Amino acid sequence: YVTKKIQIAIDGPAGAGKSTIAKIAAEKLGYTYIDTGAMYRALTLKALTEKIDLSSEQAVTDLLKNSTIELKPSPQGQLVFLDGVDVSSEIRSNEVTSNVSKVAAHASMRAIMVELQYDMAVKGGVIMDGRDIGTAVLPKAELKIFMSATVEERARRRFEDNQQRGIESSFESLKEEIALRDKMDSEREASPLVQAEDAIFVDTTHLNIEQSAEEILKLATERMS
Ligand code: DC
Repeated sequence: YVTKKIQIAIDGPAGAGKSTIAKIAAEKLGYTYIDTGAMYRALTLKALTEKIDLSSEQAVTDLLKNSTIELKPSPQGQLVFLDGVDVSSEIRSNEVTSNVSKVAAHASMRAIMVELQYDMAVKGGVIMDGRDIGTAVLPKAELKIFMSATVEERARRRFEDNQQRGIESSFESLKEEIALRDKMDSEREASPLVQAEDAIFVDTTHLNIEQSAEEILKLATERMS
């Protein structure tokens, strides 16, 4: 009985539960969890700090060429380093979140990101989470998941999350924000968020975290043997 070190791609819209579920599944499998959104967030943070024109493909691409973005596993989860500095919490700010879709839209910048991400996953034993993993980064991944949930449910989860962290927010504006980011991520020209033809659709609207992770583990185990 042999288990292969496979590549698992998880794509889907914001708030579908990808990162929470992928982290649990990776831990159970002894795999490395790679959050590619963190890389786009790190670049956005730098672009905002350096007051780069976010709509300029050339400026954003040059910025990435002159940056180092590294993901490092740690006991507290994945850490993100931008030019050697830990920016793991800064990249979650509202300012980054509301500007990242603009930055992520540029094709020549994405080509570099895709290459960096491919290299991180080439040896297998990884669960990679993003928007274009199954379609562009790891087209040969043994398992591709497209994870989603209704906009209402995703806004509800974000709302409860904020409440627990003591952050005040409005359900209606969260819903609008999520719907807008879905629209920008799905309608952009450069590798938009679409389900890969060979991806398995997992709807987490009526599943809790454990049930969703179980579903991924079951599919992964099938592909590993
Ligand atoms: O998963 P996240 O919310 O941290 O991702 C932040 C943004 O980055 C998201 O709005 C779209 C973009 N992104 C992308 O274009 N491609 C990826 N592989 C991952 C994220």
